[in-house]
Amino acid sequence: MESSVAELDRNALVRIRKKANLAVLEETIEKSGDPERMRVEVEKTTRAYDIGQRTGLFRVPEVLDYDEHRGVAVFEKLSHLVSIRQGLMFGSRCPSVAKRTARALAAVHDLLELPEEMSVPLPKELADGGNAVFLHGDFSFNNVFMDTRSDELVILDWQMTKLHGGAATYGTRCFDVAWFLNNLFNRYLHHCLFGNSAVEIAQLFLRAYAEVARAEFDMAQYQDYVAQFLVITNRRRQQWPISQRVLSAAFNYFWKRHLSSLRH
Ligand SMILES: Nc1ncnc2c1ncn2[C@@H]1O[C@H](COP(=O)(O)OP(=O)(O)O)[C@@H](O)[C@H]1O
Ligand SMILES: [Mg+2]
Repeated sequence: MESSVAELDRNALVRIRKKANLAVLEETIEKSGDPERMRVEVEKTTRAYDIGQRTGLFRVPEVLDYDEHRGVAVFEKLSHLVSIRQGLMFGSRCPSVAKRTARALAAVHDLLELPEEMSVPLPKELADGGNAVFLHGDFSFNNVFMDTRSDELVILDWQMTKLHGGAATYGTRCFDVAWFLNNLFNRYLHHCLFGNSAVEIAQLFLRAYAEVARAEFDMAQYQDYVAQFLVITNRRRQQWPISQRVLSAAFNYFWKRHLSSLRH
């Protein structure tokens, strides 16, 4: 272990927010949704659980039951979680957490496989970007955690983000990478005011990812992908209220600095 778990702020332990699709019980979490989508999420979670066990790089909740008629999945409830945001943004743990997160994502891309009938391509505008793999689909600060007791990385919510349709399972690995860094840059204010530099975190993450993925990850292709990804993201941002649109300038500045940091 590269640094102590004690540095994580225990006050930041995640309190599970109330949501209509989530029942939080003593030892389990029941999640419901469209039965077809839930079936895919259950399959992905089960396979990802095995990858986590096999590689020792991350933990995924065990799927305990699935009612395919109602679309209700029962997951093991994990506790003592803090968002990956804590590990990345504050204190000296940042480099090790960034690298571990990147290696975990690279292992998912390398090892996750789903049955053919569950292979749903990314929406067309996000699909170009080199070799395709099975994706996490919503690899973000809301779904990646640290367990403060065991110091394990924990990955939840194996379903494509609804912001990009909620159904895709398969496509360029650049999507998960760009989606994660997009999430990081979205929280820019915290970085500016209190924490580690977002651009440095992104560089650590990307270099660690590229080191594992090697020939499967082409840096030039990634840069082209980001350009296309930003067009789509910024188009969506134009529908935001004007007060929030001001934040877009900073967000784009981070992305620009990230891309130029890759050229050195
Ligand atoms: N197995 C679990 N153990 C502990 N907390 C969980 C678990 N599953 C979900 N959660 C909590 O519930 C939140 C929402 O669950 P998630 O699967 O991400 O649903 P959604 O698709 O609605 O985002 C997570 O961010 C996390 O805080
Ligand atoms: Mg989630």
